[in-house]
Amino acid sequence: SLVSSTALLQTARANKYAIGAFNVHTLEMLQAVVEAAEEAQSPLIIQSTVGTVKHLGADYIAAAATVAANRSSVPIALHLDHCSDFSVIMSCIRAGYTSLMIDASHSPFEDNVAITRKVVEAANAIGINVEAELGKVGGVEDDIVVSERDALLADPDECAEFVERTGVHTLAPAIGTAHGIYKGEPNIDFDRIATIASKVSVPLVLHGGSGIPDEQVKRAVSLGMAKMNVATELRIIFSDAIKQVFAENPDENDPRKYMVPAKQALRSAVLAKMELCGCAGRA
Ligand code: 13P
Ligand code: ZN
Ligand code: NA
Repeated sequence: SLVSSTALLQTARANKYAIGAFNVHTLEMLQAVVEAAEEAQSPLIIQSTVGTVKHLGADYIAAAATVAANRSSVPIALHLDHCSDFSVIMSCIRAGYTSLMIDASHSPFEDNVAITRKVVEAANAIGINVEAELGKVGGVEDDIVVSERDALLADPDECAEFVERTGVHTLAPAIGTAHGIYKGEPNIDFDRIATIASKVSVPLVLHGGSGIPDEQVKRAVSLGMAKMNVATELRIIFSDAIKQVFAENPDENDPRKYMVPAKQALRSAVLAKMELCGCAGRA
């Protein structure tokens, strides 16, 4: 069955690697990341955004992830990405999610503390993981828009106070990454990661994983980032493989014919991310 991500991420932080957390939007995408985890013998976090929960249904996603977990030789957690809606959180928990992110980072600090704490209390009653965000990750995900100007970085002392007061299991501090592909290179504040990691013992989460140069990912992971979220790159790779099939055969009308290459492309991309994060071979 699906497991909570908490223990997986604590082990990752203690051993200085990160677990890849991959956003999926279709059954084939879910299968591709599971196959990659099997091949790499890596622990796995499958993620869905609120938009994808609305698109597919939390119950369908949880059912597919549960089948994967029951068949699999590697530990798999199912995580709800960036959610600010308590009722969506509750319906995902009910469906079987084992990890979730309460994103109240757009609220003032005291409100973020209160909202996160309430979710942690509910999650602790059933033993699932809660991730929260401090500061603001830049870019766009689903309908969450953060202008470059408002993309404020997390304050290390606030991180310590926040973890202490909320009991949150994992923390996503804004440290200069952004959702989507960067124009040029991201401007990651590595000193800030190190300072936060020295004040906070919970696993840290790196958002905006798409487009970060490999060396910068490795450095962030070595400093305490124990989960890396990847979404945009995977959507592009999956969709490009489908586009290529139609470019070569515009009349193709068998979904299996365009899904199989897309799955294969996604699987190799995810394998590469697992090698990069250091979670390959850690199952
Ligand atoms: P990217 O789309 O940049 O990979 O960011 C993913 C993410 O942070 C999901 O929460
Ligand atoms: Zn994110
Ligand atoms: Na990114």
